[in-house]
Amino acid sequence: MLPDGYELRPLRIEDAEARAAAYDRNREHLAPWDPVRPERFFTVEGQREDIARQSADRDAGKRHPFLLWDDGAIAGQVAIDNVVRGMLQSATVGYWVDGDHLGRGLATAMVEHAAVEARRLGLHRLEAGTLVHNTRSQGVLRRAGFEEYGLARRFLYIGGEWQDHVLFQRILHDEPPGNPRAGNDVEQA
Ligand SMILES: CC(C)(COP(=O)(O)OP(=O)(O)OC[C@H]1O[C@@H](n2cnc3c(N)ncnc32)[C@H](O)[C@@H]1OP(=O)(O)O)[C@@H](O)C(=O)NCCC(=O)NCCS
Repeated sequence: MLPDGYELRPLRIEDAEARAAAYDRNREHLAPWDPVRPERFFTVEGQREDIARQSADRDAGKRHPFLLWDDGAIAGQVAIDNVVRGMLQSATVGYWVDGDHLGRGLATAMVEHAAVEARRLGLHRLEAGTLVHNTRSQGVLRRAGFEEYGLARRFLYIGGEWQDHVLFQRILHDEPPGNPRAGNDVEQA
């Protein structure tokens, strides 16, 4: 559960200005864990483009991004991404917390929220990968009920190089794909 005062809301185009400010003030904090961002990404215009892309992905059922708000400022983000249906019914989860809001259980609460949302969408499984030395993020995933299941060599292009990742998953239910009990408010194809 989120601590008092924090609220998670779906990402909207109106959030471009606040999101540009949040990414700008968290540049150093996020740089070791993120892809290398072009300068435009940190501008309001760049954010409008990024949010428009994410909205199109949401409309296509591929991505479900949320922002964490604290009194009008962005305190973090969590997104269900790479949704695959059919017999996989799986997605990835990614997240970050503003450098001034760390150590309050926010990431853990956001990942738990993502699991509830993914279950509502009828997904069978959520997956996450962390850099090998991102022990803080690994603690978040374990607290949110994920199990470590492997090591993927040269898995993601982070900080300008292909880096190994520890892989985690959480199984959400064992209903057959498309069964209404697996989540009945979305396209299951
Ligand atoms: C990794 C990251 C998301 C963690 O965010 P966070 O909000 O500080 O995480 P949490 O508060 O949920 O957990 C962090 C610590 O706070 C502690 N904590 C403090 N109060 C807590 C509370 N009320 N409830 C739960 N945990 C609490 C946890 O025990 C945990 O301790 P640990 O690191 O010794 O395991 C954040 O450091 C970040 O944004 N890093 C950069 C981006 C990144 O790494 N993203 C993930 C990529 S895989």
